[in-house]
Amino acid sequence: MSHLDLPPLSRAAGTVQLPGSKSISNRMLLLAALAEGVTEIRNLLDSDDTRVMLAALQALGIGLKAQEASAWRVHGAGGVFPVKEAELFMGNAGTAIRPLTAVLALSGGHYRVSGVPRMHERPIGDLVAGLRQIGGNVRYVGNEGFPPLEIFPARIQLTAPIRLRGDVSSQFLTALLMALPLTGETAIIELTTELISKPYIEITLNLMARFGVAVEREGWQRFTIPGGQRYKSPGMLHVEGDASAASYFLAAGAIGGGPVRVMGVGRQSIQGDVRFADALESLGARIQWGEDFIAASAPERGKLKAFDLDLNHIPDAAMTLAIVALFTDGRCVLRNIASWRVKETDRIAAMAKELRKLGATVEEGEDFLAVSPAPSLAPHAAIDTYDDHRMAMCFALAALGGVPVRINDPGCVAKTFPHFFDAFAQIAAPVIAIDGPSASGKGTVAQRVAKALGFHFLDSGALYRLTALSAMKAGVALDDEAAVAAVAANLPAEFVGDRILLAGEEVTEAIRAEEVGVAASKIAALPAVRAALFERQRAFRRFPGLVADGRDMGSVVFPDAPVKVFLTASAAARAERRYKQLIEKGMPANMRPLLQDIVKDLEERDARDAARAVAPLQQTPDADLVDTTTLNIDEAVAAVMDSVRRRLPLSNLPVL
Ligand code: DC
Repeated sequence: MSHLDLPPLSRAAGTVQLPGSKSISNRMLLLAALAEGVTEIRNLLDSDDTRVMLAALQALGIGLKAQEASAWRVHGAGGVFPVKEAELFMGNAGTAIRPLTAVLALSGGHYRVSGVPRMHERPIGDLVAGLRQIGGNVRYVGNEGFPPLEIFPARIQLTAPIRLRGDVSSQFLTALLMALPLTGETAIIELTTELISKPYIEITLNLMARFGVAVEREGWQRFTIPGGQRYKSPGMLHVEGDASAASYFLAAGAIGGGPVRVMGVGRQSIQGDVRFADALESLGARIQWGEDFIAASAPERGKLKAFDLDLNHIPDAAMTLAIVALFTDGRCVLRNIASWRVKETDRIAAMAKELRKLGATVEEGEDFLAVSPAPSLAPHAAIDTYDDHRMAMCFALAALGGVPVRINDPGCVAKTFPHFFDAFAQIAAPVIAIDGPSASGKGTVAQRVAKALGFHFLDSGALYRLTALSAMKAGVALDDEAAVAAVAANLPAEFVGDRILLAGEEVTEAIRAEEVGVAASKIAALPAVRAALFERQRAFRRFPGLVADGRDMGSVVFPDAPVKVFLTASAAARAERRYKQLIEKGMPANMRPLLQDIVKDLEERDARDAARAVAPLQQTPDADLVDTTTLNIDEAVAAVMDSVRRRLPLSNLPVL
């Protein structure tokens, strides 16, 4: 996809399950590969950067086996890599190339490591200099100080402390710390500069400790790895959610009302980037901490406050604050962020350029950025992302300024968060919930509104009908709650344009049969069935937006939908419409039910849908009532569009 057009967004609220942390995933994979024994890693991030690490380890002779989704078994080598000759491609993954280079230099083999062109512009000289001090034989294939590299067998000697710079990237220190225990000798690293991004070193030390290797640290200046330690598998490990990725959603909550809750990180997190929540709090956002979640909401009243912060401790999440600055009440300064210049792109330059497209005034320094927001964001900015996942994820937030935003090359989020835009849609994509009784015409109206807006469409009734039909076909009794719920959970249904398929067979017409409707109404009263269909319905919420029709779209499935419509009509009017449909379908007069029987049938079904204990049919207090008794379809569509216009900040709404 060349670009993604985000619609103007007004609100963000809901819950997001975070993918596994990139920093933890790649460190755990490497430590597990070097350890004695088998390690099972659960919730491993599945992204470009972790795939790079997995592929490299495989090429180096490490046994890797995928269990179920996101769980991997790593058969550790119990020391250096068994394969002594390899060519390794590291993409643009700093968390892979830096530590692997250090380990390879101690592995007694002949290796070449390279990456994408940008990787060949990202520094590695300080690490290579450190390795050369202990006898490492590493050669620059291209430019001095940068990958690609060629690594040769060498005699490693730990006679004197390794002197290392820590002010370009903390990954050089991480790399040496993780590699040096392989020598079995006592190793000392002394930093010759200030160390940046210290919390990442804490992650490294924490994970090394879980694999049985202790490091003595004197301030942030001197690190000693006592000899005679070996990595040993701790058995099973769980990767926490990615705290850097959490920043986008927490910011969305702080900007777009909230609460937005991220699941997978919390109070106990070992990732420094959770401190982003403190930064947000200092601007006035309301933050809640749990064991396994963090939640953020907008300030009680007024705007987020302008800030001037040293962000050296959260270099990645700090980017998110550059966007948050657009939503504050004044000039914001992000300080001590020089490392941005050597990341996936020159992030200071990229950020400055793209923020200006949104109307902000930006000053850019060697190690700082100052952002003064315009009174309102400039609409229709086309944001370039520089093959930098964080640029794409950050700028998605700009749409919360109520302006349409185009994100170029949105696929670059695959580096760390392949499903980012789906997750963001879950909390922010506009939903138009249209509920109402049977035959109120809401299906037709909803479909027309979806088409007019270019939104996705969910006919939730079809899911209940498909479940009913599927159960009937499988001979499952309709009152066997567990069995019907199992059918609902594994529904092999596909929506292809206007066609509906069940296990590959077209059932578009079949699910509209009267007996299927009656069966659907029965199984829809079973709580387990409703629960089984819940996430499936939520997954329809994608950009640019969703029109969902049913009984409980506004009350249960999308309770924070910005637009809710309750579409109804008198039972007599609905019966008449249904009667006309039967004639149009060519049903002969002697087969047609009597009009009064249809009325009775509809009233019975309404009563059943309204009386059931779970998710009864109801008009929520925040829904607009549209009574179509005296309206034709065009008028009903116009009435719903009125509601949409009043409640959504969509610019360029089509005029119907
Ligand atoms: O909208 P419809 O007639 O296709 O719906 C079929 C049945 O499914 C209806 O009797 C009620 C039930 N249903 C529901 O309970 N909740 C929804 N969101 C949609 C439909």
